[in-house]
Amino acid sequence: MHYSIISAFLLIQVTFGQLSNFDDWHHQRIQLEDVSIHFRYFGSGPPVLLVHGFPQDSLTWHTIGPIIAQKHTVIAPDIRGCGDSSLSRTGNYTAQAAGADLKAILDFLSINQTYVFAHDKGVGLAASLAIEHPDLVTRIILADYPLPGYGYSTNVTSPDLYQNWQLAFFAVPDAAEFFISGREREMLSWYFFHGSYSGTQAVTLDHLNRYTVQISKPGFLRSGMMYFAAAWDDEKYFTAAFDNGNRLHMPLLALGGEASFAPVALLNSSWSGVSDNFVAELIPKAGHWIGDENPAWSGNRALRFFADGEQIPDVDLSYLSDRVTLWP
Ligand SMILES: *[C@@H]1O[C@H](CO)[C@@H](O)[C@H](O)[C@H]1NC(C)=O
Ligand SMILES: *[C@@H]1O[C@H](CO)[C@@H](O)[C@H](O)[C@H]1NC(C)=O
Ligand SMILES: *[C@@H]1O[C@H](CO)[C@@H](O)[C@H](O)[C@H]1NC(C)=O
Ligand SMILES: *[C@@H]1O[C@H](CO)[C@@H](O)[C@H](O)[C@H]1NC(C)=O
Repeated sequence: MHYSIISAFLLIQVTFGQLSNFDDWHHQRIQLEDVSIHFRYFGSGPPVLLVHGFPQDSLTWHTIGPIIAQKHTVIAPDIRGCGDSSLSRTGNYTAQAAGADLKAILDFLSINQTYVFAHDKGVGLAASLAIEHPDLVTRIILADYPLPGYGYSTNVTSPDLYQNWQLAFFAVPDAAEFFISGREREMLSWYFFHGSYSGTQAVTLDHLNRYTVQISKPGFLRSGMMYFAAAWDDEKYFTAAFDNGNRLHMPLLALGGEASFAPVALLNSSWSGVSDNFVAELIPKAGHWIGDENPAWSGNRALRFFADGEQIPDVDLSYLSDRVTLWP
């Protein structure tokens, strides 16, 4: 009895003892031409860029981030128009425009090789980074999102609980904003349930409230919708990049939650048009909210994937702590 309590305690220590608290991570803000980008960072070792989607912000990495930060310098931006970054002055929320912000963050940090882990809309941004700067992205994990042109726009209208009619609704920002304004929390609550494996408990009330605060700021609901309205521009962009037979060559791990992206053959057919170097796997006991529903599997799978193959140089961001960097 004592033995099993002690060994359970040791297991918890080994698994979770070293984990940082995401809310204690460092903050950084950088000014780009079109937006001000906020990101959180923590850890030491080779860099990993984490790219969130909608309706979330960098908080989506609150569990997976600390697991990866045990071995890596982790950088988790709020993408333009989300979280604590600003709205885009030009209103451009295409994967290419928002993906260019990722390059700007890496340039600011003098990082010329990184691992990337992206989720949802962030997958489009990360894919754009990999298309435009293939030497920069050494290994990439793309989770629970088919690129426009490769499975996104053809599967949006089924009424099934786990299907995705909201992708079409959000793509009409005037209507979506009109119907959702003042009901952001209700929309999020429905969305988290709708995309989940485990149901209404998938995302905590505290985090539901924090996401609500973010998308209820003036303009931020609309900027989220603009990512969906950009799907057709994104489709043109991605098909121009890949329909000519070009592919991404860096190792790609394509993930999908078992409740949101099964069967694995769907993942496979989605990514075979994009990459000639991928493996596809389902995340057990997760829907779309992989950081809330199965962070241990997802974080540890990412650690194994990044440890495999070519290793990249460490970065040390401690120099940022006491510096004014927003103003030249
Ligand atoms: C958005 O940005 C992309 C990338 O810079 C550019 O190709 C596209 O034309 C822009 N779209 C609009 C509507 O400004
Ligand atoms: C990255 O920068 C380092 C140091 O400046 C340089 O030695 C290395 O070749 C660069 N790597 C790439 C892939 O450009
Ligand atoms: C997605 O759309 C494609 C093309 O219309 C169709 O063949 C496929 O069966 C759909 N998949 C699902 C899961 O609905
Ligand atoms: C998955 O895609 C790869 C690459 O296109 C292909 O070689 C493989 O046979 C596919 N596997 C399944 C289970 O569909």
